[in-house]
Amino acid sequence: MELTPSMPEGITPIGFVQNSPELQQLLTYVITNARAGELMAVDNYTEMVQLFEQTDDKIATVQQANEECKHILLLEKLAGVVGVSIDETYVHEQWVGLRENFHEAVGRRELATCLIIQDLMVESLAIAMYETFASEANGVTETSRIARQLLDDELEHLDMGLGRISTLLAEDADTVHDGLRWAHHRCMPLLFGMVKDSCDFLCREKSLVCETVAMGPIAIDLKMLEMAALDRYVSMLYEAGFDPAVVNPLVASMAAYDPSVREALEVTGVSAQGCDPSTGCC
Ligand SMILES: [Fe+2]
Ligand SMILES: [Fe+2]
Repeated sequence: MELTPSMPEGITPIGFVQNSPELQQLLTYVITNARAGELMAVDNYTEMVQLFEQTDDKIATVQQANEECKHILLLEKLAGVVGVSIDETYVHEQWVGLRENFHEAVGRRELATCLIIQDLMVESLAIAMYETFASEANGVTETSRIARQLLDDELEHLDMGLGRISTLLAEDADTVHDGLRWAHHRCMPLLFGMVKDSCDFLCREKSLVCETVAMGPIAIDLKMLEMAALDRYVSMLYEAGFDPAVVNPLVASMAAYDPSVREALEVTGVSAQGCDPSTGCC
C-alpha cells in the first residue's frame, strides 16, 4: 500500500507523511495569515498608486502590487507542498484594522504614512516571517526555496520604501514624522498583537497548545518570530533616517506590549521614556 501521496515532479516530498496533525495546524495558521497579509498588500499598493504624481512611481507601485499577487499564489503552492490547505478560520481579525488604517491615510492623501505602514511596518514583519521559513534550520527544500523567493521580493519592497521615505524626509521631515507617530500608534499594536497572540489564538480558537507541537521536517518557532519581527522593525526605524528624538519614545512605548518586548529593548539600549498618545505626548 502506498503511504506517500504522489508529488509534482521536481518537488521535494516533505511534510506529507512526517507532519503531525498539530504541526499541520501550525503551518495552516502561519501560511493562511501570511496569505492574508499578501492580500492586504495588494489592496494597499493598488490604493496607493493614486497618491503618486510621477508616472514612473505609479508603474513601480503597480508592479509591487503584482508581485504581492504572485506571493499569494506562491503561498498557496507552499501550502500544497507541506500538505495543508488555506483555512480562513485561522485569519487574525487585526488584518482588517490594519487595512482600515491604511485606507484612512489614503483618504488624507498622506503618502508618507502609507509608505510607512505598508513598505516599512508590514514588510518588516513579512521579512522576519519569510526569514524564519527560509532559515537553514529548514534545510534546502521546496519550502525554503519558496520562502527565499518571497523574502527577496519583500527585501526589495522594504528598500524601495526606505528610498522613498528618505526623499520625503528631505522635503518635509515634520509631516513624515507626524505620519510615523500616527502609523506606529495605530498599526504596531495590531501587527505585534497578532504575533504576540499567536499561541493564545491557536489555543483559544483551535485547542492547539503551541509548546506541544512536535516539529517534523519544518521548524516554526512563533516566539522566535516575535523577537525577529521586533528586531527587524526597530532596526529599520533607526536605518530609515528618522529623527532619533522621535523614534526613541516610539520604540520605548512598545515595552508596554509585553515583557519579552521589554527585555529585547533593554538589549537594544533604548532607554527613552515611552510615549502614549492617550496622554497627549505626541
Ligand atoms: Fe508579499
Ligand atoms: Fe511586499
